[in-house]
Amino acid sequence: MKKLFIETYGCQMNFADSEVVASILKEMYSLTKDIQEADLILINTCSIRDKAEQRIHKRLKELEAYKRKKRTMQVGLLGCMAERMKEELLQTEPVLDFIAGPDAYRSLPQLIADSQHGHTSFNVLLSKEETYDNIMPVRYDANGVSAFVSIMRGCNNFCSYCVVPYTRGRERSRSPKTILGEIEDLLKDNYKEVTLLGQNVNSYYWKEEGQEVSFAKLMAMVAEMSPELRVRFATSHPKDLSDELIETIARYDNICKCIHLPVQSGSDRMLKLMNRHYDSAWYLERIAAIRRYMPDCSITTDVIAGFCTETEEEHQMTLEMFRKVRYDYAYMFKFSMRPNTYAEKHLHDDVTEEVKTRRLEEIIALQGQIALENNRKEIGKEYEVLVEGESHRSKERLFGRNSQNKVIVFERHEVQPGQYVKVKVVDCTAATLLGELCTQ
Ligand code: 5AD
Ligand code: SF4
Repeated sequence: MKKLFIETYGCQMNFADSEVVASILKEMYSLTKDIQEADLILINTCSIRDKAEQRIHKRLKELEAYKRKKRTMQVGLLGCMAERMKEELLQTEPVLDFIAGPDAYRSLPQLIADSQHGHTSFNVLLSKEETYDNIMPVRYDANGVSAFVSIMRGCNNFCSYCVVPYTRGRERSRSPKTILGEIEDLLKDNYKEVTLLGQNVNSYYWKEEGQEVSFAKLMAMVAEMSPELRVRFATSHPKDLSDELIETIARYDNICKCIHLPVQSGSDRMLKLMNRHYDSAWYLERIAAIRRYMPDCSITTDVIAGFCTETEEEHQMTLEMFRKVRYDYAYMFKFSMRPNTYAEKHLHDDVTEEVKTRRLEEIIALQGQIALENNRKEIGKEYEVLVEGESHRSKERLFGRNSQNKVIVFERHEVQPGQYVKVKVVDCTAATLLGELCTQ
């Protein structure tokens, strides 16, 4: 059998998509971790910020050397960059044999065959229906404990800075039946945790034979499959984080107490320009609602520093938001203007690179301090931890996560990955908790 090497960049959706791609090609290729022996290299790409794209252009240059050594090697580019730049990429990046957008993976066998016969080969058609519903992903890079399950694709929100609605197309939900079927298979394979994935999971919706399934209902259905199964989800949009969903998370012990709620900015003017459909008061009310139902729930976020026309005062409002919410973790970014977005067409990217960098550094410093203070409060507490594997630093230690998604490292003793254990927190850094195994 021929050998396939897949490299994935970007978000969790992309990693989940690469598993779908491996599944679509499994009759033709076996997977390899050694790029040199590959007959086909696939690069699954991200367009979210300019830096992500630059990194991929650089990687494509490196791939030219592999191809010179092995003339029969094919290289294909998948994902958001394929969709954004379309067939132009085949001209500017001669190493590429074909490209396929996020909704075109079923046509990969055809694209591969066409390019082998010397035809230019690309498919960047977006679909209103494709959810790869019936495809069981090949979990080639998994730890055997935790898996991602894609429940919807695309995004209809059109935040003014974001390329995703253009690269991943319209929002569509996958049928509950195939989602539950996929999770059933994971349970049979001894998986203990699933993360339900979508760009905006709160707007998951399915209707069939008069039965309606909301995201809250879907979560309840998944949680009821097994008390041994932990359920996580990402990403929520603050504008439609409902009380029904918060109540559902609170009601089930095995739905993890961690909500990722991207704030993007603390300034109402910025939020409006970003087309986020909420203001800071609404956001803080949603945080209060989460804490009313679940005082122990961790909250994480995404934030953008230096969006178009952001003033110093507005940046301070973002810092103030961080002080009020006290996030457990944050993904923090400098604004990067993306072609064809509303921002590119109508707004001015007038915050200088220097100011963006300084504002981002201020957010990072504040968040580091808050995360450390939050973690210090965990010392002395006991948590149920799902063990994922060996600690990167030492073979004598294992790591796992608590329900709040905090990483806890502890001495391994006789414990195996996939087990639930009780761990007492004894120390911490801003990023990790250090624990001791409790005798049960
Ligand atoms: N520039 C910087 N960050 C961005 N994000 C999305 N688009 C951009 C952009 N153009 C961030 C948002 C989003 C996360 C996935 O990436 O914070 O929530
Ligand atoms: Fe982009 Fe906004 Fe959709 Fe998230 S919700 S993918 S930030 S458009």
